[in-house]
Amino acid sequence: MDKILIQGGIALDGEVHISGAKNAALPILAATLLSSEIHRLKNVPHLGDITTLKRLLEKIGAEISEKDDYCEIQVKHIKNNEAPYSWVKTMRATILVLGPLLARCGEAHVSLPGGCAIGARPIQLHLMGLEKMGAEITIEHGIIHAKAAKLKGAAIYLETPTVTGTETLMMAAALAEGTTTIENAACEPEIGDLANFLNHCGAQIIGAGTDHIVINGVSALSGASYEVMPDRIEAGTFMLAAAITKGDLHLKNCRPADMISIIEKCRATGSEIRVEKDALRVLGKEIHAVDLKTLPYPGLPTDMQAQFMALMSVSDGASVITETIFESRFNHCAELRRMGADIRVEGKHAMIKGVPRLSAAPIMASDLRASASLILAGLVAEGETEIRRIYHLDRGYEAIEQKLTDVGAVIQRVKGKA
Ligand code: EPZ
Repeated sequence: MDKILIQGGIALDGEVHISGAKNAALPILAATLLSSEIHRLKNVPHLGDITTLKRLLEKIGAEISEKDDYCEIQVKHIKNNEAPYSWVKTMRATILVLGPLLARCGEAHVSLPGGCAIGARPIQLHLMGLEKMGAEITIEHGIIHAKAAKLKGAAIYLETPTVTGTETLMMAAALAEGTTTIENAACEPEIGDLANFLNHCGAQIIGAGTDHIVINGVSALSGASYEVMPDRIEAGTFMLAAAITKGDLHLKNCRPADMISIIEKCRATGSEIRVEKDALRVLGKEIHAVDLKTLPYPGLPTDMQAQFMALMSVSDGASVITETIFESRFNHCAELRRMGADIRVEGKHAMIKGVPRLSAAPIMASDLRASASLILAGLVAEGETEIRRIYHLDRGYEAIEQKLTDVGAVIQRVKGKA
């Protein structure tokens, strides 16, 4: 397995081009199942999770061709309406094909995702909503069997604002008979991006990005050309790379309007942040201790919690980080402690006392955002940090070593034997 080596102590300086959003591209790719016409998608990031979903879509019947700066995808016919465990265990987000498959061909057999490093991650709300729309759903031997001759519009209330649950139901409702409302919908910008794509295909979706979404079902959807939104979590991660190294980074092709909570929290820690229309300039100065709590959008994203933990590990005081979304998203703490961080975890709270300097050590990534936090720690640790299991990182960050090298980091990937 590959590993990454990072030499700490260098202030980053320069421009970073932010890639397309993984968590918008995944549902948009799944949504191409809803039409038999050609789609042209720009700004789809080249990531492990995206490749996994594209391969599954091809198994289902998609023809995908990569052009210079866009991806062309067409699902003329559904050849196979299954997503077996071998796929779903690789990436939970393959659950996103369930709603579109059911809406397109009336039947879908998708493996029930198991838990993952950050939590149990149930999907009962996805299934509840589909049943309200008339689907017959049974689960046998770990496979969700869903059938519906024609989905019907329904009034759906989500007890938890689930992101992919909202996306599943929005996609299924797009081709349902009648109107569907989703109350207490998740409000993440990626949901708005999916709705924009679907409306470009002729869907009638109002209110995506708010907690009340109305979908008037249509009989068919066309193809569309669409550009995926920038990745706000990648942008937030690079903001903290500037903050932690006391550097100066200019993040191009990002959407500050999606990042208010991240910008304000990063400012509170002492960084200077200049907001431009589609860019951010971040100058790291002091690193003050602040308390953080993750919340559904527009609160501070849980996907930024591990990265802020790395920053607070070298702050000038004591801070408390509360993780309210996932029940075990503190896997990075033990690894940061190996580097000298002073972190104590009690339930959903982590108490951090900033230390003057972290020290490099061999450490291990456990999940996608934890691996990003270890990279940030390695950028400021004394010595050379070695991070193993970086396949986690490759799932969600496009060419991160190159982007960091381009702004002065001394970082390299070492091809692993085992
Ligand atoms: C999406 O996951 C993202 N993934 C996650 O990003 C992100 O952390 C998460 O939303 C929260 O923002 C994608 O978009 C592909 P949820 P998702 O359903 O949809 C509970 C990353 O690093 N819940 O919004 O799976 C659940 O247990 C990944 O890019 C139920 O109880 O998250 C959790 O506590 C990690 N029942 C909360 O809701 C359900 O039926 C939020 O989960 C569904 C969810």
